[in-house]
Amino acid sequence: MISKSSIEQVFETARVEEVIGDFVQLKKAGSNFKGLSPFSDERSPSFMVSPVKQIWKDFSSGKGGNAVTFLMEHEHFTYPEAIKYLAKKYNIEIEETQQTDEQKQEANERESLYLVNEFAKEYFERIMFKTDQGQAIGLSYFKERGFTNETIKQFNLGYCLDEWQAFTDEALNKGYQLEFLEKTGLTIVKPEKKFDRFKGRVMFPIHSMSGRVLGFGGRILKTDKKAAKYLNSPESEVYHKSKILYGLFHAKQSIAKEDNCYLVEGYTDVIQFYQTGIKNVVASSGTALTPEQIRLINRLTNNITVLFDGDAAGIRASLRGIDLILEQGMNVKVCGFPEGEDPDSFARQNTLEELTTYLNDNSKDFIQFKASLLIKEADNDPIKKAETIRDIVNSISKIPDQIKKEIYIQECSRIMDISEDVLFSTLAQINKKEVQEANKNFKTQLHKAFDVVKPEVKAPKVDLQFELEQKIIEILLLYGTETEDFEDLVLKEADDGELQLEPVIHNAKVFEKVYLDLQEDEMQFTNPNFKTLYYTIIDTLHQQPEFSTKNFVNNLDQQLANDVTTILMNDERYRLHDWERNHIIPKEKKHTIAQLVTQTILTLRCYLIDKKVAEYQNETLQEGVNSRSVLEDVRDYVGLKMLLSRKLGKVIGGKI
Ligand code: CTP
Ligand code: MN
Repeated sequence: MISKSSIEQVFETARVEEVIGDFVQLKKAGSNFKGLSPFSDERSPSFMVSPVKQIWKDFSSGKGGNAVTFLMEHEHFTYPEAIKYLAKKYNIEIEETQQTDEQKQEANERESLYLVNEFAKEYFERIMFKTDQGQAIGLSYFKERGFTNETIKQFNLGYCLDEWQAFTDEALNKGYQLEFLEKTGLTIVKPEKKFDRFKGRVMFPIHSMSGRVLGFGGRILKTDKKAAKYLNSPESEVYHKSKILYGLFHAKQSIAKEDNCYLVEGYTDVIQFYQTGIKNVVASSGTALTPEQIRLINRLTNNITVLFDGDAAGIRASLRGIDLILEQGMNVKVCGFPEGEDPDSFARQNTLEELTTYLNDNSKDFIQFKASLLIKEADNDPIKKAETIRDIVNSISKIPDQIKKEIYIQECSRIMDISEDVLFSTLAQINKKEVQEANKNFKTQLHKAFDVVKPEVKAPKVDLQFELEQKIIEILLLYGTETEDFEDLVLKEADDGELQLEPVIHNAKVFEKVYLDLQEDEMQFTNPNFKTLYYTIIDTLHQQPEFSTKNFVNNLDQQLANDVTTILMNDERYRLHDWERNHIIPKEKKHTIAQLVTQTILTLRCYLIDKKVAEYQNETLQEGVNSRSVLEDVRDYVGLKMLLSRKLGKVIGGKI
């Protein structure tokens, strides 16, 4: 864990305007800075940074916070990544604490592997650009494939000499240990000799989401039937194939901004697309997508477009595994290429405009695509047709959203020329249990189990802010580490120019959601104990994936430990009580965690904005205040309040 004092030092040193200035062009506006929102496409600036308060606020999306949350939102860093980024920017040495010897050793080992990979990346680049063999073989290969120098440098492409141990020798000379060269797979160690794994190959470094080198892919240049075309780093402490998407580091911002992710198969597909100007593209590196990879994308967008090569095998292969994406609640489109082309070759032959037009014209909704493809194949064969129907309905059953499901059933009924009734009864057969249980439990739970937070409470006797703060602590303690689907409502412009709230499903840990949401309004707990608790819990959760309330309580001082126990006991009492009354099994409370979290936070945010506006109104009465700028701020806040109220209305009165 990063020590508290290091975190404090980072917060003290980092200047929000400097941090954001690296990403957004800021112009001075009074005591603040203004700029174009990096989270939406806008022409008049609604993004504000306050150097005095050290916060930022984006009035077009409602996001806001401090330097750390900006990096988390914009760069999609985790909390520790953001802290480390800032430490590096400001030359602060980070102190790690609370690690057991074993953890320390593991961290050291991972760090050593990263260092070796970083060295190797630079070495392969140097060899390619600075040696005769590198230029003649490696560089000229990439040039032949149409990559520019700029692209080659952006992706840190390189070359490994066609000698047995040139790389290994150099690394050992520079003081890197053989143990780590072997663990990263860069060197293969045999009893009689050791040699370079990637001998004679061009090199594609594989970056993590935050840009560290995790491993490599190496492509052979000779035509050798026995050797694999691509060789990849073996699994290690830092390279887990199933959790990596090639290109994600380069693509992440564009994926979030375009709100779509193109998925291709190969390294060169990614690079060629990127060079052509389509940057929201990642590769699964030739394997079926894993749930972990889908979650990586899901942090950035809800939409994915799978691109596949122009051959039948490609189509078949990409049909498999797509159900997995549907299951995560994402919208999937597919797009093929002409016979004999893959994304790389197609992008190379076309301009950005042509490529964009092609993708827009040929991307088809996955379910519709699958239905029309399979029905063609099953023509005139009733048995095959029955199988096909089951197959498609099975895909539809994976979609979590009921309304979407229905729309797809109607659509398929049309395409396959089968009555909706038949399709619906097939669907019912497939997920009979799930559907019934979900419908039965959901309403009762939402209304009965959780009417603790009633936002429409008028003139509350109780201190609403106290209640809400306590509720947030409780949520963090009980469900902080749970991963949930949050339905966020995003303001979008409809075809007719009207602004609409559209639901976007966002998969996240509860505590991350709470932290990011609360940062949006410079939110401060008023109760000092809750405030300390909140930051302690958030720090702990951010840094420890395995959180246990028991251990947590043991490390607190007496007063805070008391508070926590009271909160937890409250919950027990409440559960018991509710269980008796409603015959609700306590553990089913989980189904509505996402709603509970969203509702609590939105209520608190609305409450705080009201308070803020009242403060501003007082301010304007004082002399010497620039009332014009205050008025502008108030207008912004009132707009935000309306946005939040509409969201809240949807959450409470929401469907299902
Ligand atoms: N791949 C791999 N090992 C192999 C073959 C392929 O890991 N032996 C992975 C690579 O990540 C590769 C992707 O699968 O980029 C797609 O493979 P393929 O379509 O065969 O290669 P292309 O990307 O088209 O490669 P190239 O254009 O360089 O021939
Ligand atoms: Mn290719």
